[in-house]
Amino acid sequence: MNILAIDQGTSGTKAVVTGENGSVLATAFEPVHPVYLDGGGAEQDPRELLGSVLGAGRRAVAAAGVPLAAVALANQGETVLAWDRRTGEPLGTAIVWQDRRAQTVCDRRSGSARRVAELTGLVLDPYFSAPKMRWLREQRTSEGVVTTTDTWLVHRLCGAFVTDAATASRSLLLDLDAVTWSGELLDLFGLGGEELPAIVAGDEIVGTTSAFGGSVPVTGLIVDQQAALLAENCLDAGTAKCTYGTGAFLLAQLGSAAARSGCGLATSIAWRLRGSTNYCVDGQVYTAGAAVRWLGELGLIGGADQLDTVAAADAGGVLCVPALAGLAAPWWDPAAGASLTGMTLSTGRGELVRAVLDGIAAQVAALITLTGDDLGTPLTRLRVDGGLTRSRVLMQAQADLAQLPVEVYPSPHATALGAAACARVALDPAVSIADVVGGWSPVATYEPVWPAERAADYLARWHAVLGS
Ligand code: G3P
Repeated sequence: MNILAIDQGTSGTKAVVTGENGSVLATAFEPVHPVYLDGGGAEQDPRELLGSVLGAGRRAVAAAGVPLAAVALANQGETVLAWDRRTGEPLGTAIVWQDRRAQTVCDRRSGSARRVAELTGLVLDPYFSAPKMRWLREQRTSEGVVTTTDTWLVHRLCGAFVTDAATASRSLLLDLDAVTWSGELLDLFGLGGEELPAIVAGDEIVGTTSAFGGSVPVTGLIVDQQAALLAENCLDAGTAKCTYGTGAFLLAQLGSAAARSGCGLATSIAWRLRGSTNYCVDGQVYTAGAAVRWLGELGLIGGADQLDTVAAADAGGVLCVPALAGLAAPWWDPAAGASLTGMTLSTGRGELVRAVLDGIAAQVAALITLTGDDLGTPLTRLRVDGGLTRSRVLMQAQADLAQLPVEVYPSPHATALGAAACARVALDPAVSIADVVGGWSPVATYEPVWPAERAADYLARWHAVLGS
């Protein structure tokens, strides 16, 4: 069966048409352009998001030249907008997950942080959807509905008013164990009067769309990071992946128990499929690809494809904490800034580029350690995907600093393939989730070459810069 799987991300929308056994028949990509504002704002034009979904989707379908059995959508998890439920028109810009202006909303509720964590598995932080929804209500409009972007995009495609359980679990409004909206949390955020979308499973058919030709079921709704976790076959508790996109997101499978993190990571729903809910624990580096883009804007590299030719063999003592949009787990400091330390007159652009790559790898390594603490056993391998996995320097640094083998997923489309897998589960009751995902062999494996003492020494110096 042929599935159009759409990965609507922060920096662009990718459309992938998959055929039998999930093979890729055609792809198309359209960039989107978040606007970064003083004071921590990050906004997107919803019409550009929708236009890119339709544009990339139609181009991929035309290139594949096959009839579709379903349309699936993976979405950036915590980006919100207000829109008119009757006309489907947006009522202003979308507030991107990176936006930190809702910190005030969280500050006013700091006394409830512990209760929020208990109910949701998350931390009271402006990264998640509810503070941004409240901020929109206070600062922008009291009209329409306020939802995550998936709800709006799906509504535009087929008229449904839904969100999937994994996306809902990134909101700070979901009772994580009951998988229902929590009245207590809605009241806490002053969102009690809001009309909320129905929470659906990843394998639920929510409607039909003719946006891509014909009349095709819409199913396979899942938040993007969890989609990649599924595609990379992280089905067994303790298996983990990191996606290096705009940010770097480390997720580890927890199984059917929504164990709360003991070290400041987030617990959310991995997916709800075949009537069962799986949970995952995650940590985030907000700026990975975004830090590389920043290097380009400074003129230090011409693009991400130059990383490995420009990066020095050694950063020469320069250390970087790449917190260009604040710090997430376990520090949860939206106001934190990035730092570059240890520069001398001999520091050149090669050392600076190298320090940023090492800094991304060090932050992921810190999250890997904490994930092991939560799981009660250290991670033994890391599966990876995303554009930055093309940097051999970054991947080797990751293996060295985390002291574990790093296995690169063979397709650049993990997120879309995860959404397509959900759709296939929906359409074919005879197949198992494991069958749909299938096994895979890494396209490259990076083994640590640094001795453990060198990695520990580097991370101690890196943590000292961070002050943690
Ligand atoms: O939590 C935000 C994340 O889901 C966005 O992912 O791929 O758009 O950087 P991406």
